[in-house]
Amino acid sequence: MNISVIGTGYIGLVAACCLANSGHQVFSVDKDLDKIEKLNRGVIPIYEEGLETLLNKAQQSGKITFSSEIGPALINTDMVIIAVGTPATADGRVDMSYVNDVAESIIDLAAYPLTVIMKSTVPPGTGKLLCKRFFSRAKVPISYSSNPEFLREGKAVWDWYNTDRIVIGTENQETAEKVMELYRDIDAPKICMDITSAEMVKYASNAFLATKISFINEIANLCERVGASIDAVAPAIGMDQRIGPHFLQAGLGYGGSCFPKDTTGLDYISSFNGYHFSLLKSVIEVNTNQRVMIVRKITQALDDLHDKKVAVWGLSFKPDTDDVREAPAVDIIKHLIAEGAHVVACDPVAIDQVKGVFTHNRLDFNTNPYETCRESNAILLATEWSQFLNLDWIRIKGLMKSPYLVIDGRNVLDDKTLQNMGFSYIGVGRS
Ligand code: UGA
Repeated sequence: MNISVIGTGYIGLVAACCLANSGHQVFSVDKDLDKIEKLNRGVIPIYEEGLETLLNKAQQSGKITFSSEIGPALINTDMVIIAVGTPATADGRVDMSYVNDVAESIIDLAAYPLTVIMKSTVPPGTGKLLCKRFFSRAKVPISYSSNPEFLREGKAVWDWYNTDRIVIGTENQETAEKVMELYRDIDAPKICMDITSAEMVKYASNAFLATKISFINEIANLCERVGASIDAVAPAIGMDQRIGPHFLQAGLGYGGSCFPKDTTGLDYISSFNGYHFSLLKSVIEVNTNQRVMIVRKITQALDDLHDKKVAVWGLSFKPDTDDVREAPAVDIIKHLIAEGAHVVACDPVAIDQVKGVFTHNRLDFNTNPYETCRESNAILLATEWSQFLNLDWIRIKGLMKSPYLVIDGRNVLDDKTLQNMGFSYIGVGRS
């Protein structure tokens, strides 16, 4: 099939490269000229495992083309996949302007019948609205499907080929069959439903996973107060098959471009529809507090942060990505600096991204975890990059200053060993 993919973000670019490698002819569009120039040279503008190899293979076989012009993408194509950003606005609404711009272009420029597939995360009800407002006015017949993505950043290529399910929301069987054709080489259940339900599946999945994280963080906070250990509690809860072991890792809470945006987005959609989603509001509140709580722990342990040096390990919102959007580390660093601390931050790939977000005369960066510890009173492990898991703690102790505080924001360090070595160790919910 000839497929146009609009947007080369995490979802659009992964979809474009994977579909090209499945033998489809893909035309990929983004209005960011810099990105297109890089992609044409075979360089991916994001850090995503396995994606550059896929891109290079697709380019060598001539199955993928990049352009900043949307016009050619709407000619001689069977399908247009919309994968543009739907960021949160300041008041928590979902910004639909990029999606609406693409819909406008489609009705202006489409000259042959085509199928529009929505992969951007859009509020339930959007598909029906787009069909009514835009696609029903097109000069040619346009069929529509919601086909949400469940790809994780850093694991997106693996997730594409190993997804638990493919959700297809359409109003007719013919469109559903066309969308299924995209995934002919993927062995996963393909579930068809109406458009609005498919849109809801995406929000509900992310909100549920966020709920699991906030729930386990609350249990961890309670463990600290009653003297239990989350290390014992979480795995035992997860062994109940009705609960499952995933997303029960207590720590600094969730970040990234998806969970924060989708939870606040769903909260806004609920209020807009006259529904007070109290559980979801609490999930969001717990996640925000988790970041404040860690600053409080550091402040208490160091007495006062003024003139104290804190090394922060990990800037990206999770390992294996350079994405710092809504990253707990970034928020926490802002708090630490506001409290008077001097911060030296370390990350294998995300330093440039943070420099793009903010700089401060009491914030330095270093890619070497040992160097960040020099003269520091405390280390905060904010992101569990593998680079931070097997370090020489004798060397680190020699570089640090009293009280040799280690705050393990992800519960991944060996607390007993560190304590025996003379570090003051604080985790999240560890007794
Ligand atoms: C998430 C979903 O997992 C994907 O299925 C979805 O497609 C994607 O959002 C999206 O909507 O596009 P992602 O944001 O890449 O994917 O990250 P996750 O791996 O789900 O982690 C999210 C956050 O939760 C991270 O900050 C991570 O550190 C945190 N987390 C995760 C915990 O704090 N505890 C856990 O047990 C698991």
